[in-house]
Amino acid sequence: MALHRISLTLNGELEQVDVPSNWTLLQMLRQTLAVTGTKNGCSSGECGACTVLLNGEPVNSCMVLAVECDGAEVVTVEGLADDGRLAPVQQAIMEAGGVQCGFCTPGVLISAHALLERNPSPTEGEIKDALVGNLCRCTGYFRIIEAVKAAAAIKV
Ligand code: FES
Ligand code: FES
Repeated sequence: MALHRISLTLNGELEQVDVPSNWTLLQMLRQTLAVTGTKNGCSSGECGACTVLLNGEPVNSCMVLAVECDGAEVVTVEGLADDGRLAPVQQAIMEAGGVQCGFCTPGVLISAHALLERNPSPTEGEIKDALVGNLCRCTGYFRIIEAVKAAAAIKV
């Protein structure tokens, strides 16, 4: 398989990567760049565990080809903290007990962070809509939703 050289900004750092044309963004993140916070739950766009920000929008990174990310800006869960300080939604999800096995958590955090960036005071319905693509087998969602509400209260 031919390799393609691409450049992207990942969590604020410029990266150059040689990737096979059939690799996904998720594969490139985990296998080439060793950024493993982003999880692979289903590889088919169903679970949201692989959610990252691509040019500011949450996407399932298992459904995006790496070569499509040439020139793009990508943010993973590792990029949410600012100088070692957790983002409000990261702090809130810990305090609310919204993490159990943690497998869904990176994707949930990215979707919640994107919501709060575009809508700092979401309603409960808007929070549910924003998280509809992030499946969680453990928490029943209640504590996750409470965490997003708490993070919104910190931000406003
Ligand atoms: S691993 Fe991408 S949506 Fe499940
Ligand atoms: S905390 Fe286990 S899947 Fe969400």
